[in-house]
Amino acid sequence: MAGQTLLLGQTLQFTDDPFHAPLEEAARHVRRGGVLVEAGRIADLGEAEALRSAHPQAEVVDHGDLLLSAGFVDAHVHYPQTGMIASWGKRLIDWLNSYTFPEEGRFGDPAYAAEIAARYFDLMLAHGTTSCCSFTTVHPESVDAFFTEALRRNLRVVAGKTCMDRNAPEFLRDTPQSAYDQSKALAEKWHGQGRLSYAITPRFSPTSTPDQLAALGALWGERPDLLMQTHLSEQTDEIEWVMGLFPERRDYLDTYEHFGLLREGGLYGHAIHLTDREKDRLKETDAALIHCPTSNTFIGSGIFDMDGLTQAGHRVGLATDTGGGSSFSMLRTMAAAYEIGQLNGAPLHAAQLWWLATQGSARALRMEDRIGNLAIGAEADIIAVDLASTPAIAQRSARAEDFWETLFPTIMMGDDRAIRATYVAGRPVA
Ligand code: GUN
Ligand code: ZN
Repeated sequence: MAGQTLLLGQTLQFTDDPFHAPLEEAARHVRRGGVLVEAGRIADLGEAEALRSAHPQAEVVDHGDLLLSAGFVDAHVHYPQTGMIASWGKRLIDWLNSYTFPEEGRFGDPAYAAEIAARYFDLMLAHGTTSCCSFTTVHPESVDAFFTEALRRNLRVVAGKTCMDRNAPEFLRDTPQSAYDQSKALAEKWHGQGRLSYAITPRFSPTSTPDQLAALGALWGERPDLLMQTHLSEQTDEIEWVMGLFPERRDYLDTYEHFGLLREGGLYGHAIHLTDREKDRLKETDAALIHCPTSNTFIGSGIFDMDGLTQAGHRVGLATDTGGGSSFSMLRTMAAAYEIGQLNGAPLHAAQLWWLATQGSARALRMEDRIGNLAIGAEADIIAVDLASTPAIAQRSARAEDFWETLFPTIMMGDDRAIRATYVAGRPVA
């Protein structure tokens, strides 16, 4: 049949969750494998030679020794912070006031927003990330710029207008009513167009009044099909600030819960300093916790308890948190997650790291059937990864004794040089 492409290389597919299933059951590596792509989806998967015989008419693209994987899914980014990533020396609140808010103020200009959206997606795809869930700025123009560019590139992405009506400069503030009206209108305009999804986005409790949180909770009640993203318990100073601003609430999570902003479909970035009650409620509601390791070390936030939270059955995704995070690379992000796991007394296996960067984040976005895995029927967002992309990596992987030992040096030392091809819905884009 016309229009079939057979990608050949090593392949890595997840068949279960490596935090809960034995490695042999959770992952399948094929040394000489293939992925058949048709109409933007994965139509077949398996051993290269078997696929060649079964689909003799398919156009073959042979990636040799490269590893074919699902593209990475970055579950928490701020695309407007692309230009000010790696800004020196501040902790969260000072960092927001000194660097972030002035930069976000520029996004009322549609031309600037369009320029940064295009730059962000170029960088994202060059780093092998094919989907992201992004904050924007308070300006509806920043949402339009992001979704216009994503639609043009046929990307499966999530974003929403970042709502703030206090504790931010005047030029970045909306109101409870305008946050509700603009979020609703933007969701109607963009959600479900192409591969786009809308997330209701209160930045975090300190920058929203109770009235604004209530308005956004009401909107989520009317539109339960939307995701909701925010920040939770990133730094201890921030938590003290939240408790001062919301003295009637039991804890930080309760500032969301009370206003209808806690349930499945909620994505809570950072989630480092959690109380037992917060953990229990997050688990009961099956909300997603998004681990942002390079951000947590860069801004000095603390140690996320990956081991405890995954053991307890929490839904966890992985993210760069660009530009609080210090890298666009999900490889570098996996390395940081490994390092934080070491500080937490529990090293993550390479399979667990790769799963978090693909299926884990896709599960957090409730899109695991569509993205984040090589599986028949999934969308063909695929990367070809060089497991010997630099001399340092090559000399280490050369002496590896199994696939995971071959992969781990790329996780720890790899960057965009390892990403040799990126396919979006079956089409090569980088
Ligand atoms: N908390 C509220 N806003 C932000 C942000 O932009 N970045 C990070 N890392 N934390 C936040
Ligand atoms: Zn963030």
